[in-house]
Amino acid sequence: MIAKQKLKMRTSFVAFTMITLLFSGCKDSDKTENASTADIPVSREMTAELTSPPNVPTPVGRRKAKKLIVNMEVLEQEGTMTDGTTYVYWTFGGSVPGSFIRTRVGDEVEFTLSNHPDNKLPHNIDLHAVTGPGGGATSSFVAPGHEKKFNFKTLNPGLYVYHCATAPVGMHIANGMYGLILVEPKGGLPLVDKEYYLMQGDFYTKGEHGDPGLQSFDMQKAVDEDADYVVFNGKVGALTGDNAITAKVGETVRLYVGNGGPNLVSSFHVIGEIFDKVMVEGGSMINENVQTTLIPAGGAAIVEFKVDVPGTFIIVDHSIFRAFNKGALGMLKVEGEENKTIYSGVVQEGIYHPEGGGIQQMPEGEKKVKVASSNKTLAMKMESGKQIYTQTCFACHQAEGQGIPNAFPPLAKSDYLNANLNRSIEIVLKGKSGEITVNGEKYNSVMTRQAISNDEIADVLTYVYNSWGNNKTNVTKSQVDAVKRGH
Ligand code: CU
Repeated sequence: MIAKQKLKMRTSFVAFTMITLLFSGCKDSDKTENASTADIPVSREMTAELTSPPNVPTPVGRRKAKKLIVNMEVLEQEGTMTDGTTYVYWTFGGSVPGSFIRTRVGDEVEFTLSNHPDNKLPHNIDLHAVTGPGGGATSSFVAPGHEKKFNFKTLNPGLYVYHCATAPVGMHIANGMYGLILVEPKGGLPLVDKEYYLMQGDFYTKGEHGDPGLQSFDMQKAVDEDADYVVFNGKVGALTGDNAITAKVGETVRLYVGNGGPNLVSSFHVIGEIFDKVMVEGGSMINENVQTTLIPAGGAAIVEFKVDVPGTFIIVDHSIFRAFNKGALGMLKVEGEENKTIYSGVVQEGIYHPEGGGIQQMPEGEKKVKVASSNKTLAMKMESGKQIYTQTCFACHQAEGQGIPNAFPPLAKSDYLNANLNRSIEIVLKGKSGEITVNGEKYNSVMTRQAISNDEIADVLTYVYNSWGNNKTNVTKSQVDAVKRGH
């Protein structure tokens, strides 16, 4: 018995030794690095530039380690979640995610957290870049109208999340209290042409997705991980339309991507691009040629890619209903010369006759430019509406609004459509299921709620009403707003 136990102990000791040996290589070099980064001297002091998303501060370049003054203010403030829906966000620096902090390894950060006197609650900050108890949380707990100061030295290069860690922690994070702090290596990260700051978060509201008015936090939904909104940069549409991030053909883009959670991990993907490099989990390991990278809640990643062709590249959480139904969708707009070798675009479009008819050419689509403004001419709305129709409605309702027999009703010469504008707006806003009769035919299918803004709904309906023999209604955003408010 004793011998057996001894043998068991010996086996596990051997296994332990082997594991220790296996890891000792990397562990030792980490330690050496830590030991040396802890000893990096600082010269002079400077005040950190803080930026709100999607912007990032100037790269550290070759600057020496410094005493870096960071002044962060907590603000509790109402903001827009989506068109017609507001939420009281708790923020670091007035934005969700909070201000981006850019440091280099060896910096001695003097961090001051100020809690605005108009705030209602105490807050603190846990920075994952901090080596120390609570990541600074225990030293930064601060009541409204007060401020707290603490110091830390950045030992490990990487991209780190920071967040509030005041009880109930989940609620503080769910209300938007997270952001990113970058610790660049000595000499800085390699320079790129464009850098942007994105951070995903999930939100839980008393009402359902899209319900209008001021929405409050729903603790039970948060516990159940039943998110109403999953978004980049704090709201639906923070990175779409006029808010899209941009680049030119030939440029290298670096995205600093965080995930605040509180609950959901992100399957981060850019449609139509391949990440040339991913700094996996924001650390030192580089993966190459990646389609989708997983970003844990409370984690980050740095992705880089060169943009080779123009177009709008859609940024998503590839848990795809989150993208198209809950808001986790952004855009990167790339301008520049086409490269038909890399991507040809449509080279031929025709009618397909399986029984053997000839190919009939379709008229070539005109190039569409998105115009977003409140004062649009009918022509501008038609152009924007056509683009939205092509992206969103075309698959079911078809190019000429003819619909698909027995499945999706026609929009061309539609008595149902022309009889009631508000009903049409409501269907686009809220979706529709159940039986309806259009031009004498019964349809019983499902149309989902469309993830487009009120402005876009006005444009696309204007396009539909002014095409294919419909009654030429010019639909305005305020009409859409009214229907949204009225239900
Ligand atoms: Cu807080």
